[in-house]
Amino acid sequence: MSERVIPLIDQRLRSLTAQVPTQAIPATGLLGDALGRPLRDLRISVTDRCNFRCSYCMPKEIFDKDYAYLPHSALLSFEEITRVARVFVAHGVQKIRLTGGEPLLRKNIEILIEQLAALRTTEGRPLDITLTTNGSLLERKAASLKAAGLQRVTVSLDGLDDAIFRTMNDVDFPVADVLRGIEAAQAAGLGPIKVNMVVKRGTNDHQILPMARHFQGSGIVLRFIEYMDVGATNGWRMDEVLPSAEVVQRVHAELPLVQLEPSAPGETAERWGYADGSGEIGVISSVTQAFCGDCNRARLSTEGQLYLCLFATHGHDLRHLIRGSASDAELASAIGAIWQGRSDRYSQLRASMPPDQSTGGRRVEMSYIGG
Ligand code: GTP
Ligand code: 5AD
Ligand code: SF4
Ligand code: SF4
Repeated sequence: MSERVIPLIDQRLRSLTAQVPTQAIPATGLLGDALGRPLRDLRISVTDRCNFRCSYCMPKEIFDKDYAYLPHSALLSFEEITRVARVFVAHGVQKIRLTGGEPLLRKNIEILIEQLAALRTTEGRPLDITLTTNGSLLERKAASLKAAGLQRVTVSLDGLDDAIFRTMNDVDFPVADVLRGIEAAQAAGLGPIKVNMVVKRGTNDHQILPMARHFQGSGIVLRFIEYMDVGATNGWRMDEVLPSAEVVQRVHAELPLVQLEPSAPGETAERWGYADGSGEIGVISSVTQAFCGDCNRARLSTEGQLYLCLFATHGHDLRHLIRGSASDAELASAIGAIWQGRSDRYSQLRASMPPDQSTGGRRVEMSYIGG
């Protein structure tokens, strides 16, 4: 066996052990955090691996062949994920997003989707089940995902220009394959499809208009995301952030826009419609206009840690409860207590803090808990 090099930067941070509180917190669907925010959206990371190496997420220098990915035994099984998801749903979750890494790399992901699709919200409705993918395996998988009960997909795509796309994914992956994946998802009825483009000033901002033109009239909602410095990966460099207001101006100058009402409380994106009725775009302004005020998102890592914020410095280990002797009611109480204690609003606070002292520590990688 060759010697293993331990990477200098490890994505797994110190975790707190989730405890079952002495006083039970039954799942009533009415859970609120310390700032009164409900729990509605559960994002489950199903693998820490990805076949792309986007520099803002899994840079090659860190995620190289010696990187210590999680061993299979550390991952929550599909049964474990479904069990914990059922408890979250009882607490009021209405939407589940599968993320990664690249979730389509998880073997037999369709089986998990089938299990999650059988869950019902506290009002007895099916969940909104979606998945964030880089699209590389979508052409092959769209039909089976739909058949398993997936409702829709969101595809990450940072540009249409093949050379730029190949550079941004850093594995020389051609854009045409992702576009075929999106077409396959449309043909399979995995809609409404969203396309997420992370905008980095000076790298792909000249792709904004070509992307807008390409997806206008397609029924696909293109969303522009302000590039964030999450995890240990990126230095905080405002010069690489293109504020959403500028994205809207640039699109509006060529393709007139009108602002639309939010479609759900706590939504990440601000919606804009084309004035001629040919569809809509969204802007996600995590940096310039924080949307923590009604953030209702919880994140479950591949190995069963609960993160209360995308920028959290630690998770809460649920796996020991899931694999231990805790009953569903005890699991519900533990999750309830963690959510009730939540006061995270990192994006909102960061503006007033010096960049490196903002959390007092290293933050979780997005490839570990999903975007
Ligand atoms: P929809 O239900 O399809 O609207 O999904 P969503 O916008 O809730 O989720 P998605 O994964 O598409 O989010 C898009 C991007 O928004 C992510 O990749 C992140 O860059 C950013 N984002 C999502 N959730 C959060 C969050 O809670 N906080 C911050 N700061 N950014 C977020
Ligand atoms: N800034 C903004 N969004 C990011 N994502 C990953 N890293 C970042 C970052 N640094 C999001 C993108 C990508 C998804 C998987 O995660 O939306 O499409
Ligand atoms: Fe993979 Fe998505 Fe991260 Fe790119 S942004 S490395 S596609 S998980
Ligand atoms: Fe929610 Fe944290 Fe994002 Fe704010 S920064 S919206 S609290 S995940």
